[in-house]
Parts: sequence; structure tokens; C-alpha cells
Amino acid sequence: MTVPDTARQRAAALRAELESHNRAYYELDAPTVSDEVYDALFRELQALEAAHPELATPDSPTRRVGGRPLEAFAQVAHRVPMLSIQTETDTEASGAWNFDARVRKELGLEEGDGPVRYAAELKFDGLAVSLRYEQGVLVQGATRGDGATGEDVTQNLRTVHDIPLKLQGQAPAVLEVRGEVYMRRDDLARYNEKAAARGEKTLVNPRNGAAGSIRQLDPAIAAGRPLKFFAYGIGQVEGWDAARPASHSGLLDALAGFGLPVCEHRAVLAGPQALADFHARMGALRPELPFDIDGVVYKVDSLALQAELGFRSREPRWAVAHKYPAQEARTRVEAIVVQVGRTGAITPVAKLQPVFVGGVTVTNATLHNEDEARRKDVRVGDLVIVRRAGDVIPEVVAVVPEERPMTQSPDDLFAREPLHPPFVLPATCPECGSHVVREEGEAVARCSGGLVCPAQVKGALLHFAGRRAMDVEGLGDKLVEQLVDQGLVRTPADLYRLEVANLASLERMGEKSAENLVAALEASKACSLGRFIFALGIRHVGESTARTLADWLGSLALLRRTPQPILAVLPDIGGVVAQSIADFFAEPRNETAIDALLAAGVLPRDEHSPRAELGEALAWARLYEMLGVPKLTETRARELAALVPDGAELARETALAARLSPLPQTVSAALVDWLEVAAHRALLLQTAELRAAILAALPEPGAGPAQPLAGLTFVITGTLPSLKRDEAKALIEAAGGKVSGSVSKKTDYLVAGSEAGSKLDNAQKLGVPILDEAALRDLLNHQGGQQ
Ligand code: IVH
Repeated sequence: MTVPDTARQRAAALRAELESHNRAYYELDAPTVSDEVYDALFRELQALEAAHPELATPDSPTRRVGGRPLEAFAQVAHRVPMLSIQTETDTEASGAWNFDARVRKELGLEEGDGPVRYAAELKFDGLAVSLRYEQGVLVQGATRGDGATGEDVTQNLRTVHDIPLKLQGQAPAVLEVRGEVYMRRDDLARYNEKAAARGEKTLVNPRNGAAGSIRQLDPAIAAGRPLKFFAYGIGQVEGWDAARPASHSGLLDALAGFGLPVCEHRAVLAGPQALADFHARMGALRPELPFDIDGVVYKVDSLALQAELGFRSREPRWAVAHKYPAQEARTRVEAIVVQVGRTGAITPVAKLQPVFVGGVTVTNATLHNEDEARRKDVRVGDLVIVRRAGDVIPEVVAVVPEERPMTQSPDDLFAREPLHPPFVLPATCPECGSHVVREEGEAVARCSGGLVCPAQVKGALLHFAGRRAMDVEGLGDKLVEQLVDQGLVRTPADLYRLEVANLASLERMGEKSAENLVAALEASKACSLGRFIFALGIRHVGESTARTLADWLGSLALLRRTPQPILAVLPDIGGVVAQSIADFFAEPRNETAIDALLAAGVLPRDEHSPRAELGEALAWARLYEMLGVPKLTETRARELAALVPDGAELARETALAARLSPLPQTVSAALVDWLEVAAHRALLLQTAELRAAILAALPEPGAGPAQPLAGLTFVITGTLPSLKRDEAKALIEAAGGKVSGSVSKKTDYLVAGSEAGSKLDNAQKLGVPILDEAALRDLLNHQGGQQ
């Protein structure tokens, strides 16, 4: 059956169009059509070729997806052997001089003769292949094999988009191109991320990735891998007489002219010093290159001189590979620990049996973060591949799974299981014991003990004393360094215990500066609430957020107890920031550090009642929305508030499903599930309590910040009927009163509940007026507060 002209023309047009889209996508990184359009054109061409097999040319873009899996690879006899290359393991400049000396000797050059010209290139770390083009069309691709015979991997090589299926320009009748198939490090990382997400095996490193992909019998595997290619030489050539280059560098230029990828990092250089310089220059560039190299290659540039030099066994005398120190090595994991950075970031680190890699002995390698450690599944006892590139921190690249220490399973006589369990990130900070938190969408987990953690304390102190925070003049990083290192200061409160005597003994600290510092610290005690909050260094709380918190909540006591949903209704405070604040105050060690500051006499001077507008912001419809219940959108939260107008009621409701029945089933189910978690119920109750406390402390509408209890000192004792002790405290403080721990003549009121003890006796003796809860509420009302 003959192919109709229309089909032939259409196939040619499709091929041309697909090739141009391919070039735009793979070479220029600038796609010209959408994936859908591309796929449609591609399928049309596939269908045409299937209907008319005569149309299926070897250079058709449809060949890039690979054909059927093979039973085995066919053998390919290399018409020109694929040689290996001598390696110079001396990684110093002398490596280049040694090679040049050998070449000069072989060529019989004397000292007076001019320098030899060399082509210098990178030594790519992938898989060597040979591509055979006949009349400019790729007809066969082979591995090196033993140099004389390789394997026919044409199907796999066709999937490498870098490799032209058809050469540009006037190609020789036969041209064998030699080069390296490789993988970029970033492509590999992206591939591994996706593979891990799909639960597939990840690739150990770019070289194994490249070599392993090309040696797969199923070409679909290679097609799914991000492979690339660089040409660096030729094999058999026929019909390239007129314009055939006379130098290796000219040859590479010609290959580039045919549309083959040739690496840009190459040079023609005269003499050994220029080679040594190239080696050093590329060595410095190595960590920044997107792909791995393990050295550079020098080749005598003149093809005539190459022929004169010839071969010695299986290696040409005209080329050498000048190596770099290995960037990867294998070693065993002795332990996995976590380190805490200056900002509290928690990093898992593998402790290794010492191994020489990248020019140094490495004993620690980072596992980056919890997800990475879990993805790589690194365990104690594992044999791992460690990488150190340039100045980059050494990292564990992958585990060698076959080498994992195993043990007899206790449950199954015939099963073996790993000797060590998978790594889990500790729940508390190894430096200070504070709880570790990981924000939603963040890879990094952090220690929440910002004020007390030894790993963070220097940064925390500098921030605390900073100009925009407590503004303690004279407390710079050198001084903080000394204070912490000598054990004089461990938390911010310790600063206020410093005395001129112990300061003056420090380096570069005279009597006068010590006095100035103590005075500056004393002056900083009467700060504004906004600065004080900022000074605490809560993650995500900058100056402006700190001011918002101070402005709206009015007191530190209230801020310390405010749960996340209430924080989240404040202007410009999002869910992440609100959670970070709540996490900070949930850490008892931070609470202790703040109490110590207050005890040392730090006293924000501008505390006041919560802002009147807060009343509206605290509508349950808003608060419900801020709880983070799945599916509870703004609208659904409003509907919920109409059904259950109070959060405390919601937390205590027993016939919940019935009560929520007007809501869409998915929403009520999500809410019921959420409330099953005790911590969620507790959050709801805490929100309800705090909301009530805030509303009680609000000033009369329109009357600026009311301070009905300003100047009055209270002591609280015993159990109050409905308020918890710290709620009563917050109410009093929000209204401007002070709460003290012991009764004295200066106490204005004792608030007493049931089972009050000695404080009640004392107050009675001293004639201090005694209030019960109701009387306290009256007082708050009577004095201008609002219930
Ligand atoms: S030339 C006759 N150039 O190194 C010389 N080889 O042992 C033939 N390689 O397996 C090789 N980069 O895969 C040459 N720029 C480069 C190279 C290179 C990497 C690999 C090649 C071969 C090995 C040589």
C-alpha cells in the first residue's frame, strides 16, 4: 500500500513542528506551546506512523519515548575502539607538569622548542557512549563495554533530548560521536523528590542515575529520567574530507556546529602552567557546576601530533585525566544526633567513621531536616555515601541499602529486619529541653526556648538589648560573647543582676563603661510594652506585630495567656504568627525567663485595658474560623455561630451531631472529628475563658483605655468560684491594678476564695479589705470596667 501524499506531508510538517517545540523546551528552556497542544501533535504523528509504517523515520520525535522493552541488549563491535584514558592522580599542579614532560619527551622536543598546545576539557562523571550517525541521522548508540564491544542502547539514547536524532548542516556520510551521558544534580534532586512522593526508588547519585538508566532494557525507564549529553570526541568517520578539522578543538567546534552539545568550559592552552591554572580554575568552579566532574582532561590539540604520539596498550599517549580529590566517599554511621543552630533550627547530623573526602577528613555530615532524613532513611550502622563539595557542609547523599545491618526478626523465624529503627526527631531540644515545634509548611523544626536555649542565647541577648528592643547602650556582640562564655549571663534576666564589680573585670571594660552599662540596664527597665514584646524575640514577631499586640491586648499578663485563635483575629496577625506566639508562651522555660525579668524589676510602663474594638473582633463566628478546623470556612463558621453561639457550649455539647445537623454533613463530620481530640477541646475552652476575661476587662465604649484599678495592689488567695487565679490576675492587671504575692500594709485588697489560709489571717490582722469574686467583679464594674 502506498502512503498518500497528504499523510506524508502532514507527517513531515508534524515532525518539523515537534522538533522546533522540543528545541524551545529542552535547549532554550522557553516552551512555545502548552503540554496539551504538544501532546496532541505528538499523538497525531504517532497515529500517522502507526497507520503507515513507511513514515516512521529513525529521526522522528516519536522515537524519543522509546519502544518496547528488550529481552537483552545486542552486541556492538566498535569500529574504532573506545579507549580509556590515563589518569594523573597527583591532584596538585605537578600533575599537569608531569604530563607535559612525558609528551615533550615522546615528541623529542628540546628545551628551546616552543610549548605544546593542548585542548583542556572537563572530565564528566557519567557513562561513556558512542553515537553513530549515517547521512546525519542517528542510527545506533552503544555503551563502551570493554572498549572493543559494547551494548546496543539505541532506544535508550534516543530518549535523551540533548542528543540530536538528526545532525544539522553538511554532516559526513558516517560520523561516530563519543561523549558522556550525565545527569545534573538539580535534575536528580527533583527526580528523587517526585520518585519518593510516588513511593518509588530514588537514585543514589548522578553517575549511577545516568549509567543505570542507559543500561535498562525498558526504554520507558530512561525516558522518565532527566538525562543529558556532552560530546568530547569521535570514532569512525567517512566522507568528511574537505572540511575536516586538523585539531581536537576544531573537531569539537565542528561537532557543536552539527548541533551536538559540547561543554562551554574548555580552552586551548599552551604549556603546562596554563594547564595547571585551568585545573585550579575549574576546581574552584566545581561546586557551582550543575553537574559532577571528577577532574579535567588535557589532550594534545594537534591531530597530527596525536597520531605521532599514538597509544600505549589501551590508552592514548596524547591525553590524560587530571583528577580532583573525590567529593564522595562511603563510610558507616555511628550515631545520629541533632544540632541546634543560632536561630533554634534543629538539624539532624550523622556522626561518621572518619573518612577522607573532598580533601579533608569528615566525621559529621548533615541530614538537612526531618523529611530528608526520613526520605533517605538513614539509620545507625548504615553504610552511607557522603559528599563534600567545595566549602559546602558535608552531607549524606544516600544509604547503600544492601549494607544495612540486619537482625533476626523476633516475630518471624524466617524474616530478618533492620537492626536499628528509623530516625525520629526528638520532641525536645537537646540543648535546653524546650519543646521542638515545626510550623505548617516548614521543613525546619525549631527549639521554642528562644529565651533560654544555650544555642540561641547569644543571639537572643543581642536582640533583647538591641536599639529597637530594650535599647541597652553598650551591650554589643563582643560583650555578649564574654558574658555568656564566662557564665555570667544565661538568660536576659541575668543582665539585670550584673554589677559594676564583675563587669569591670571583663576584657576592654573599664570602671566607667561598666557603670554606664549598669545605668543603661537600669534605665531600660521602664520600657514600653511594645518594645518589651519585641525584645522577647518571638519568631515572626517583628516591631510592628509587637506594637499591635501591645496596643490591642494592653498587658503582658493577658498576652501570655491568649490562645492562638484570639491572637489570630488581631489585625495583621496571621495563623502562623499567632501559632508561633502561642508556642512561645506555651514553653514553661520561656515563662520562667519572663517571670525572672519581671522579678528583676522590668516593668512595661504603658500597660492598659484591652482595646475596646476587641469586643467586636471576638465574635464567635470569627473565633470559630480561626480554630483551624478543616472545612470550617468563614461562611461555615458564621453558620456554626448561629447554631452554637458560644464556644464553651460547643466544647461541652454531648449531642453534637444532632445540634450541627443543619450544617453540610462533611462540615459537621470534620468538626466532630476535630473535637474528638482532647487538646482541641481544651483550646476551645481556653479561648472561651480568655474571651470572657478580655470582654470583662474592656473599657466603656468611647472612654479611652480605662484603668479603673490603677494604683491599687491586690493579693489573691484560695479558690474562687468561677475564675481561675490567673484569670482574676489578668482581669485586675488589665484594669490597671497590680497583683502581688504576699499581704503587707501596702496591699489594698485581698481577693479570697474558699480554703484561703494564712494570707487571709494576715489581711485580717492588718485590716486589709477582703473581697470575694462577686465583690471583685463589682469593683471592676463600679470603677468603670465593663463585664
Ligand atoms: S576522552 C581517547 N574526554 O573518562 C580518550 N573522556 O577513561 C577517550 N570522560 O570513560 C576519552 N570526560 O567516559 C574524554 N572530556 C572527556 C571526558 C572523558 C569524561 C570519561 C570517559 C571515559 C573515561 C576515560
